[in-house]
Amino acid sequence: MEITKICCIGAGYVGGPTMAVIAQKCPHIQVTVVDLNEERIAAWNDPNTDNIPIYEPGLSEIVATARGRNLFFSTAVDQAIDEAQIIFISVNTPTKTYGKGKGMAADLKYIELCARQIARVAKDNKIVVEKSTLPVRTAEAIKSILDHTGNGVQFQILSNPEFLAEGTAVTDLLQPDRILIGGDTTPEGKKAMEALVQVYSNWVPTDKILTTNVWSSELSKLTANAFLAQRISSVNAMSELCEKTGADINEVAKAIGMDSRIGPKFLKASVGFGGSCFQKDILNLVYIAKSYGLHEVADYWEQVIIMNDHQKRRFSNGIVQTLYNTVSDKKITFLGWAFKKDTNDTRESAAIFVADDLINEHAKIAVYDPKVSSKKILEDLNYLATRSPEHNQDSVTSYRDPYEACQDAHAIAILTEWDEFIHYDWQKIFDAMQKPAFIFDGRNVLDAAQLRAIGFVYQGIGS
Ligand code: NAD
Ligand code: UGA
Repeated sequence: MEITKICCIGAGYVGGPTMAVIAQKCPHIQVTVVDLNEERIAAWNDPNTDNIPIYEPGLSEIVATARGRNLFFSTAVDQAIDEAQIIFISVNTPTKTYGKGKGMAADLKYIELCARQIARVAKDNKIVVEKSTLPVRTAEAIKSILDHTGNGVQFQILSNPEFLAEGTAVTDLLQPDRILIGGDTTPEGKKAMEALVQVYSNWVPTDKILTTNVWSSELSKLTANAFLAQRISSVNAMSELCEKTGADINEVAKAIGMDSRIGPKFLKASVGFGGSCFQKDILNLVYIAKSYGLHEVADYWEQVIIMNDHQKRRFSNGIVQTLYNTVSDKKITFLGWAFKKDTNDTRESAAIFVADDLINEHAKIAVYDPKVSSKKILEDLNYLATRSPEHNQDSVTSYRDPYEACQDAHAIAILTEWDEFIHYDWQKIFDAMQKPAFIFDGRNVLDAAQLRAIGFVYQGIGS
């Protein structure tokens, strides 16, 4: 089947960049990204592509090339579904906040709404692709909804999880380690998989396109995230032991990473992983294991989250202890609020939880992040609902200038590893701070020796 029209439901961190790259690499395919969120779609259509809603290096250039040619952003969901041969579902699948599975299971209400909308609108056969990260066997539920339309339309459900990381989304999409496509082993299922393989093979070498059964594909995505997060919790666990023993976590990580069986990536000790997916996907995995009665499997993976929470709390406790057991009314400056560099995404960022702990201790938090707005910072704290919005507003101030943010501070905490922090005039910052001046480097990005030479009291993770 020659694919000429694709629709993607969900113009978020995955749907937007993924479809922009498909459109760039497949000029013969019309790609329409739809969303219910009018503000988000308006931002994707902003004539100045620097104002698109998601910051990713290289993305605005791709959008500038393809938008209006074969890439479209729209709120006309029904029309896009009707016209497309392939429909990607790329909506959010957050942790449930109510009912059965609250705090653990993935909330599939948005997925189900999409399936029902497709069932209602489709007039001819469609390939429906799960792009969102989903619990294993979700395709069964989607199929059941789609197959009960009674209008004779045939649907093929494929699983095609996305492995991009934020901050490097464009490179990850242009040169993926692999593309995973799961589908039915029936002739129709194989034909659908082949159609999607053809789309990707416009730029991805075919030996990197892996086809599997649907359940393997769905479960591989949760497994990949669990393994990645597990490495971070493992190295963070060792960072605490390093602090007690005089070993240095960076040296330990380097030494073990040179073992080709372990490898060097994802061994950076930190204040804890954030982001919208690691915690959500592991909790979901734990929930699935429990629902099959596999309690040892569930406990094993839950430990990754327990360790991560411990690491965040350990960081904020360390600040309070070092500042003579009180941070009350002390200005503590956060450099970085995003969950990692090169993104404006703050979901589950460690900064939010560290700030929450310190505000409980009556600290005054100053924040500088090159890409995160003051509105977003307050929204993140208010979302935790640990205190009134007025209290948060009184406790946090955001700055557009990092030097001003650090002026008169008792301590600086590095919460995101933005490259620009390395190039600051640290002598100037030191001179303007209260003394003794402390730096808590939650990402081990600064030069400890240089900072100590200036006079800072420097504490990195695991050193
Ligand atoms: P997001 O919240 O940024 O975007 C989801 C979008 O879907 C929102 O704009 C929302 O308005 C829209 N939406 C929800 N229901 C809708 C409906 N019925 N019709 C139309 N639009 C609807 O989420 P995201 O970060 O892009 O994540 C999407 C999925 O991809 C999740 O399952 C996530 O686990 C997975 N994922 C995310 C990443 C990442 O880096 N963010 C990477 C890999 C996989
Ligand atoms: C992660 C995965 O890397 C992607 O493959 C996956 O597609 C995505 O989740 C998803 O499913 O959403 P992402 O969360 O965007 O991507 O970013 P990562 O680079 O994985 O970083 C996650 C967190 O771990 C960040 O807070 C980062 O600072 C932290 N991290 C990462 C460490 O603390 N140490 C490391 O060595 C690496």
